[in-house]
Amino acid sequence: MTWPTALPASRVPDPRDAPGLRWGVIGTGWIAERFVSALQRLTTQEVVAVGSRTLGSAQTFAERFEIARAHGSYEDLVADPEVDVVYVATPHNRHRPHAGLALEAGKHVLVEKPITLNATEAQELADLASARSLFCAEALWPLFTPKFDVIRQVLDAGVLGEISTVIGSYGTWFDADHRIQRHDLAGGPLLDLGTYPLSLTGWVLGAPDEVVARGTEAPSGVNGQVSALLGYASGARGIVHTSILASTPVLLVIAGSEATLTIPDGFSLPGPFSVLRTDGERLDYTEPLIEYDGLAYQAADVARRITAGELETPYRPLRESVATMALIDEIRRQIGQVWDEER
Ligand SMILES: NC(=O)c1ccc[n+]([C@@H]2O[C@H](COP(=O)([O-])OP(=O)(O)OC[C@H]3O[C@@H](n4cnc5c(N)ncnc54)[C@H](OP(=O)(O)O)[C@@H]3O)[C@@H](O)[C@H]2O)c1
Repeated sequence: MTWPTALPASRVPDPRDAPGLRWGVIGTGWIAERFVSALQRLTTQEVVAVGSRTLGSAQTFAERFEIARAHGSYEDLVADPEVDVVYVATPHNRHRPHAGLALEAGKHVLVEKPITLNATEAQELADLASARSLFCAEALWPLFTPKFDVIRQVLDAGVLGEISTVIGSYGTWFDADHRIQRHDLAGGPLLDLGTYPLSLTGWVLGAPDEVVARGTEAPSGVNGQVSALLGYASGARGIVHTSILASTPVLLVIAGSEATLTIPDGFSLPGPFSVLRTDGERLDYTEPLIEYDGLAYQAADVARRITAGELETPYRPLRESVATMALIDEIRRQIGQVWDEER
């Protein structure tokens, strides 16, 4: 592999160029606000309806974002004939039922991460979408951004050489009253934060041949942190740590025989990364720090796929979502974490 003189350009098109679809949103929480805001300011996508468990919340959200219709139930939202595609932004343990509701109603669906609680549920959603010929994807949004498309090209070109090590860390301290502290909402760091480094380790190295995981309980009773060692027959290793007990760097390192790619703190958000060759030669990637405005890229990709009649996106195929959930299932088995829905 000849060392490149510069990093490749992103191939991700401008989100404004995607055909406009009519979106309905399930849930009116933290990420729903950011998603709708990014769509409205940075794409031609139209949010035409919002659904909440309570009509009041739906109306407040609809007024704030000037959305035409507010529904007081998720059932009414998915039945809305004006909606082409549903974005599911409810807690993890509601993803399977709410995405299923949308698919059963004949709507395409983008589901927040983690796609479901476990691999069985993820496969059920994939099968349902396929049987109905509807689009379905997990909103693992970094993979849709220009930064990760540049990284994708660096990996595909073999710039790093033989990859031996992936290190992923994602720790954020949370208040005692945050939903992440609630077992009944599938709390703890694993599904919420760990999803990113685990998905990305799988993206780089594939499914591990061996997993060793250890966890620590949080004062709230949910798992507080998990460390996982992923082993591969090739000798490669993935090392992932995720925590809600403390804020650690949100860091991703992909290291090979030729060079090391480092995404410094905030790897899941738009921002810089570097590729450092073993002899000290270095390439740097920079881009505007637009934070959650980056959500526009995944919405635009979903609109393009649906308009083209595609049922999945190559940025996050459902088989990769299922594989990530299978890995998380194994980690949970080792740390003794069982969700209420699985009992
Ligand atoms: N992509 C990202 O960067 C990102 C960032 C944060 C979160 N997320 C994901 O998005 C999902 C939602 O997270 P969030 O932080 O937005 O949560 P949140 O602020 O608590 O919002 C969740 C919403 O889900 C609805 N809901 C339905 N059933 C619920 C229940 N039993 N308890 C509580 N709320 C319920 C509520 O809306 P109504 O009251 O209107 O029904 C609530 O506002 C999670 O799966 C998380 O992993 C993704």
